[in-house]
Amino acid sequence: MQRFSYDALPGRVVFGPGTARAKLADEVSRLGASRLLLITTPRAEPLARELAAPLDGRVAGMFTGVREHVPAEAAAAARHQAAATDADAVLSIGGGSATGTAKAVALTTGLPVIAVPTTYAGSEVTPVWGLTEGERKTTGTDSRVLPRVVLYDPELTQSMPAGLTAASGLNALAHCVEAFWAPGRNPVTALAAEEGIRMLAQALPLAVKDGADPDARSDLLYGAYLAGTAFAAAGSGLHHKICHLLGGRYGLPHAQTHAIVLPYVLAVNLPGAPDAAARIGRALDTATLDAGDPAAAVQALATRLGLPGGLRDIGLREDQIDEAVRLIEPAVPADNPVPVGAAELRALLHAAWAGAPAGSAASQPAGHDAAVQAAREQAVTAEVLASFAGATSPRYREVTQSLVRHLHSFAREIRLSQAEWQFGIDFLTRAGHLTNERRQEFILLSDVLGLSMLTIGINAPASAGATESTVVGPFFMDGAPQTPLGGDIASGAKGRPCYVSGTVTDTAGQPIPGARIDVWQSDEDGFYDVQYPDDRTAARGWLRSGPDGGYRFWSVHPAPYPIPDDGPVGDLLTAAGRGPMRPAHLHFKVTAPGFRPLVTHIFVAGDPYLDRDAVFGVKESLIVEFTEHPPGAAPEGRALDEPWSRVAFDMALAPAADPAP
Ligand code: BEZ
Ligand code: FE
Repeated sequence: MQRFSYDALPGRVVFGPGTARAKLADEVSRLGASRLLLITTPRAEPLARELAAPLDGRVAGMFTGVREHVPAEAAAAARHQAAATDADAVLSIGGGSATGTAKAVALTTGLPVIAVPTTYAGSEVTPVWGLTEGERKTTGTDSRVLPRVVLYDPELTQSMPAGLTAASGLNALAHCVEAFWAPGRNPVTALAAEEGIRMLAQALPLAVKDGADPDARSDLLYGAYLAGTAFAAAGSGLHHKICHLLGGRYGLPHAQTHAIVLPYVLAVNLPGAPDAAARIGRALDTATLDAGDPAAAVQALATRLGLPGGLRDIGLREDQIDEAVRLIEPAVPADNPVPVGAAELRALLHAAWAGAPAGSAASQPAGHDAAVQAAREQAVTAEVLASFAGATSPRYREVTQSLVRHLHSFAREIRLSQAEWQFGIDFLTRAGHLTNERRQEFILLSDVLGLSMLTIGINAPASAGATESTVVGPFFMDGAPQTPLGGDIASGAKGRPCYVSGTVTDTAGQPIPGARIDVWQSDEDGFYDVQYPDDRTAARGWLRSGPDGGYRFWSVHPAPYPIPDDGPVGDLLTAAGRGPMRPAHLHFKVTAPGFRPLVTHIFVAGDPYLDRDAVFGVKESLIVEFTEHPPGAAPEGRALDEPWSRVAFDMALAPAADPAP
């Protein structure tokens, strides 16, 4: 059950390539602004001038004194210029520092801000401001600093250098991660954060490789926007407390600091935040990163993007760690998922300082560069995935890429040895050699792994009132003989006679006349006809339901039997300590125009193997009472000199219109 409060933020977002050039003038008019103070960095100035050109003289002044962390002097200078030019709105074009300077102006003047971000800072959708005085950074929240309009234009980010792309993208990733445990977290921020992680982790390597990749740039900027909104509502947690202190006090570069610290915070917090761990893992998994160890995966991503490994590489001295611990400790949120005191902070900062492996990789032998190793492994996966990117059919691409992702992640998870790989190849080779028209070892394999039942479940979703489906198995054969209503399909199969009857209806109980009912089953020794070396056809056939939807036929009482276990699948079962038995059953396949085909069984109630079917096919609703009868008069005018059994089973077909997902 959900229980939360959530202050959703106002603010207009206009997203799309070309947006800044095409829409900026309209958005300025929409705000009714006519005297803009344009705030930008020297680096972004040429771009800012180009974007401002169509504003028809509505730029009243330009401030280019933007500096990282918004020093108080820079804020004062910008405010002064806003007053001097009599500005009625602030337009920021640039990264987080440009936005931050615009916010500093808005904080004291109340002027509306239009933001055109060129990095992945995300601050353009938050009401958080920050100022640095000397070594002290002050932050606060004020709705006046939240930009009224944000124009997100991925084209503006194409020229962002690879290093900045990587650092700024991981900074956004940190916003997403932090939104899972920061004080204002709620289900909506978790949703945005998970999708943000997926977008960022997927697109970052692509954008770092080719900055002009329009799709990657769009995904990254969208991910950064999601990150910003999640962070805006959730607020900052342990990670940001650490990074802000390090940035403000020791002058460490903001984005790199985030990128370095994040894996260590993940490693500390995830054990106490299983829901976050699952969601972050899921998002990283679709981005081909190892879902099982998000901390190591994020570190591997950072390494692969060429980011510095440790805080020592960006200017922190080891002797500053103790002071940092003292300053950070009081700021650690009380509801951090894992209690973090001075000892934990010290360990975290030492590891981050040295760039030690984070996550479970941290427990690998000393000297082993786990991050580099993980990065190499991920690179293989990424390369293979890319090789399927140009598939002609989108479905083919989806299926193959997902297969590669899961196969690779499986190999990584179990640390697949060379010998195990060879064992798997030999297993499949044996399965292939054994398979022919009468023996299907691959279907058996799918069956004992539960894949057949899973696929059936996916494709025959529960439909109210419809009979449940189960495995086809390897013994259905085309070309079985037709039997009239009330006929005998046994054709000499050994076993006590069994009379089977019932009706075929729709889910409302209306009869379906003329439905085709295929039946196949084992004899009393547990063998199907195709398992005998001769070419016999026995205990199989098909008939049509009558005008009232009724069906009836004679056959033999089915027996429990082992699935074929003289091949690799049998070896698999033995090694697992599993048995090969299936409880006694009859197979049905029922088809009728306008209805979803039904493949199912009826199981004999009381069978000893009902609770351990080797192929997981048993469903409660398919277990049916078979009654026993003494010799004598029997249905269809028969007089039997041996005992016989009887079962009744009605089947309801789902309409074909019921969409399979
Ligand atoms: C069968 O019921 O015919 C069957 C199903 C799965 C594997 C082997 C046999
Ligand atoms: Fe069977």
